Amino acid sequence: MLTADKKLSNTFFRRCRSLGKIAAIVFAGGWYYLLGFFGDKGDRVIQHAASQTMVLSPKLRRLHGMTTRTERAYLYWYAKHIFTGKGHIVDLGCWLGSTTVSLAMGLERNRHASFNKLIHGYDEFVWRSYMDLSAKGTELEGKYRAGDSFLDEFERRTSQWRQYIKPCQGDLAKVRWCGDPIEFLLIDAMKSWGAATGVVQDFFPALIPGVSLILHQDFAHWFTSWIHPIHYRFRDYFDPVYDVPSSGSMVFRLSRELPLDLLKQEWSETQFSEQEVEEAFAYSLKIVSSEKRANVVAAKAMYYFHSGRLDRAREEIADAHARGYDFNSELGIAERRIAEER
Ligand SMILES: C[S@@+](CC[C@H](N)C(=O)[O-])C[C@H]1O[C@@H](n2cnc3c(N)ncnc32)[C@H](O)[C@@H]1O
Repeated sequence: MLTADKKLSNTFFRRCRSLGKIAAIVFAGGWYYLLGFFGDKGDRVIQHAASQTMVLSPKLRRLHGMTTRTERAYLYWYAKHIFTGKGHIVDLGCWLGSTTVSLAMGLERNRHASFNKLIHGYDEFVWRSYMDLSAKGTELEGKYRAGDSFLDEFERRTSQWRQYIKPCQGDLAKVRWCGDPIEFLLIDAMKSWGAATGVVQDFFPALIPGVSLILHQDFAHWFTSWIHPIHYRFRDYFDPVYDVPSSGSMVFRLSRELPLDLLKQEWSETQFSEQEVEEAFAYSLKIVSSEKRANVVAAKAMYYFHSGRLDRAREEIADAHARGYDFNSELGIAERRIAEER
């Protein structure tokens, strides 16, 4: 038999649950109303920012990858609400598929795009020692050694969305894109000047002016410093559209046709004067949100480090200290890496 107190508390909890459900429905309805309102008006930040309501999704949270919840929320939302089907979705550097599955889950629910509902997931699918850290404490710990193929694991994790995903194995410095239009290009594999050249020469020509988005997952990553001078050369063609919060990702829209001379370049540090490098990083610092700036400064120090200019790299670190940048960011990693070098 229930006591009067217990009955009262059960009723109270039932009412709270109902109120919670009603609040969730009203909240979701509000977002959908706003989306409908802004939907046909191009790059309203709200269209992209609304993606962050998905950070609470348990399915997206469960995905294992070197991605943040905010990035997975954005990719899901993009594929469900923004992707039109005018071109393909290409995911460069998909690793175990956390980006690919987020996109596929959105694509599966996309009711307005009827074409090109296939994500082309490019990767070498070759295990590297730096991946051990992200596998630590998971069922993958110790499963692969450097040099092993992990394509089987990518296929296993993406199998539920097989009809939406085409794995493409190869080194981006060498692989070729078929030339079909690309509407969304996710870039998380510009890990060297050679790979950057491959991405620009093969994939950028397929972007559709006025339509296509690129998402640079490493825009605020300490290591991939070449992204900034290369992107600076393209600055008049790509408009910043969305800064994915709590992540290294920036989304840009191609505003007009890309010129052939930029598309044919072999990118390397020899093409950039120190003045242009300074301007490039100043530009990147201007377009990112404050939370990303310390990582961009880290990439700047690494640019000089990668170019063999240790003194200049150390100056950047000293300057960042003087300016009060947060070294609990990736600046701390860059500082340690530069200090190790004698
Ligand atoms: C940081 S991981 C990507 C993480 C991934 N975006 C995720 O969702 O977790 C970088 C990926 O790029 C791939 N990669 C690096 N350089 C590459 C290249 N030159 N060609 C193809 N894939 C490459 C690696 O194999 C790795 O899976």
